[in-house]
This record gives sequence, C-alpha cells and structure tokens, in this order.
Amino acid sequence: MKDWTSKWALYSPDKTALKEYETGRTLTYGQLNRLGNRMAFHLQRTFGVGKGDRVAVLAENCLEYVVLFAAAQKLGFILVPVIQGQRADLDVWASVCRALGIQPGSPSATTPQSTVKATPASLVAWNPEVLASLSHPDPKIGQQLAQDVCSACHGATGISPSAQFPHLAGQSAMAIYKQLHDFRSGARVNEQMTPVAQQLTEEQMTAVADHYASLVGGTLDRRLDWTADPATDHLVRTGDVARAIPGCQSCHGAGAGGPMETPTISHQYREYLALQLDSFANGTRHNDVFSRMRTIASQLTPEEIDALARYYSTQ
Ligand code: HEC
Ligand code: HEC
Repeated sequence: MKDWTSKWALYSPDKTALKEYETGRTLTYGQLNRLGNRMAFHLQRTFGVGKGDRVAVLAENCLEYVVLFAAAQKLGFILVPVIQGQRADLDVWASVCRALGIQPGSPSATTPQSTVKATPASLVAWNPEVLASLSHPDPKIGQQLAQDVCSACHGATGISPSAQFPHLAGQSAMAIYKQLHDFRSGARVNEQMTPVAQQLTEEQMTAVADHYASLVGGTLDRRLDWTADPATDHLVRTGDVARAIPGCQSCHGAGAGGPMETPTISHQYREYLALQLDSFANGTRHNDVFSRMRTIASQLTPEEIDALARYYSTQ
C-alpha cells in the first residue's frame, strides 16, 4: 500500500481527514501526516519496528488507531488491531496473543481439515440455456416419450391411475424438469424413477417436462377452498411463527412467487403428499435446495402431515 497520508498532505494539507464522533475533534491530512511521521519515528527508535513486522497495539481510541495506521504505511509494518480486545472483554495479553494467532480457538488458529465432500442438494442450475430449452421444446419428442414410457405409470394425460404414482398434470415444466434431473443425477432416489430418468437426455427431459406442463396449462386449480379445520387452515395460509414454518401457500399457492421449481400440490394423491412430507422430515428425500422442505416438514407432527396431505389432495 502506498503512503497516501503523505500524498494527501502534499496536495490538500488542510482537508479534513478525520472527525472524531464523540469529541467532535477534527484532524487535517497535514496534521495526520505529521502525527504519523512522529509515531513511525518513535516506533522505529524505541522498538526497532521495521518492514513486515506484526505489531499489536492497544489503541485507546479511534484517532490513535488512525495515526498508527498512517505510521504503518510509512514503515511497512502490519498493524494488528487490538482495539477489539477491550470491546470483546479480553485482557491485554489474551488479545495480543489472539492478534498474533497463538491462542487456540482464536480466529487465526488453524481450522482442522475436513475430508467431508460438499454435496449440493441438487445439481439443477436455472441457467439461460435450461430456461430457453424449457420454453422452446420439441413437442414431438415430449409427446412420443410420454406415450412410450411415462404413460405406463403416470397416465396418458399425466393423471395417474394409482396413488403409487404421482399425477404430473398440473405441474410446471420447471417442477417436472427439476425432479427428472434430480432422479438422473442421484440427488433424489426412487427405484422406479431412477432407471427411467437415467435413460433420458437433456433434450428429452425438457421436452417431456413441457409436454406434461402443457396438458392443463400449468396448474390444475388456481382457487383454494378454505374449508379445512382452523389449525390446518392456519398452517396453509400463515404457518407457525413459533416453529419458523412459513405458510405453505406462500410458496405453493398459484402465482405465489415461491422458488421456480415449487411443485403444485393441489389435487395430488393424499398418500403421495404424506409420503413426500415424511421423506423430507426424516431426510430420505433431500433434494430440496436450501433444505427448505426438510426444515419445514421436520417441524410438523404426524397428525399435521396427515391433515395437510388430506387437505391439499382435495383442493
Ligand atoms: C415404472 C413406473 C414409472 C415410470 C415408467 C415413470 N415414472 Fe415417474 N415416478 C414413478 C414413481 C413411483 C414416482 C414417485 C417417486 C417417489 O415416491 O419418490 C415418480 C415420480 C415422478 C416425478 C416426480 C413428481 C413429483 O411431483 O415429485 C416426475 C416429475 C416423474 N415421475 C416424471 C416421469 C416422466 C417424465 C416419465 C417418463 C419419461 C416417468 N416419470 C416414468 C414411477 C414411474
Ligand atoms: C419456502 C417455500 C416453501 C414453503 C413455505 C413450503 N414449500 Fe413445499 N416445496 C417447496 C419446494 C421448492 C419444493 C420442491 C423441492 C424440490 O426441489 O424437490 C416443495 C415440495 C413439496 C412437496 C413435494 C411435492 C412433490 O410433488 O414432490 C410437498 C408435499 C410439499 N412441498 C408440501 C408443503 C407443505 C404441506 C407446506 C406447508 C406446511 C409447504 N410445502 C411449504 C417450497 C415450499
């Protein structure tokens, strides 16, 4: 770093460099530079401080600290602030050691290395290419694939014949694509869906996602009929502040503005909804970005999961 105090002192010596908030005292660049020079001289003569030294100083106040900073620029030493020592209630010795990084547990202590691999919840990236291909799919590919492969389990129109298989109709292309991608990458695992998804190319995934999304124009039902019991109604609309649960509708409501991949849960099979909430709660399903659903579901009681699944399946 260049010695900017002396530069400013040269060009605008009378310009205010610092105003102490508590006392209202001001210091010009000229004054700061002189004080800095004096401090540098003193440190060099008395302590032999030179370039590259680490100097921990217990400064009384902000002004003193700034002067030390100016001196550090001139001599090239490294100033280790200990002013925090007073604030953090450390004694002088502890704060000096800490500043030099020789106290265990200080921020400068070496962090033990971890061999754990960081694994993201999902490998889906909503980049422009993915979004573009989702909005310009090849309708023939999607239609053909749905007919040849998916319809056996999910039904020809995305209305599945059994609660074992979730309905796909009503889901957005983003929601379907996200799950397909996660099954393919292994972020979400299911013995029936995993082998299917692993056979799909990127183009097929976007095309079939669009195909199912186009069948009913995105959502099955835009209206909610508030006929639940008051407790469930409250969870759906408002959530529970005490347990940090946001209302389900703040993300799952049509046009609610939740994450892009938020699935439609209205009219889904009750058993499927309950199974997914249980899986999020116990962590067997863990492909939700930022653990959003795991955090929420783990706070719900089994009775609440049951009531919410019943509620949404009939909405
Ligand atoms: C052999 C049966 C079978 C076939 C074929 C099949 N699926 Fe599935 N699919 C399932 C099952 C079972 C689940 C539920 C997985 C779970 O419980 O985790 C599922 C889940 C899904 C989901 C997640 C839905 C949600 O709301 O979470 C999507 C999306 C999906 N399938 C799309 C497809 C597509 C697209 C095809 C065709 C390329 C297809 N599936 C073919 C059985 C099948
Ligand atoms: C902060 C937004 C948010 C809130 C609030 C929220 N969800 Fe979700 N939910 C999501 C997202 C995003 C997913 C998709 C997770 C993934 O990527 O697999 C999801 C997935 C689900 C699924 C799985 C559906 C499927 O088709 O696979 C269920 C069931 C569900 N949520 C129920 C609920 C219920 C019940 C509540 C209220 C207690 C709730 N969610 C609150 C964002 C939210």
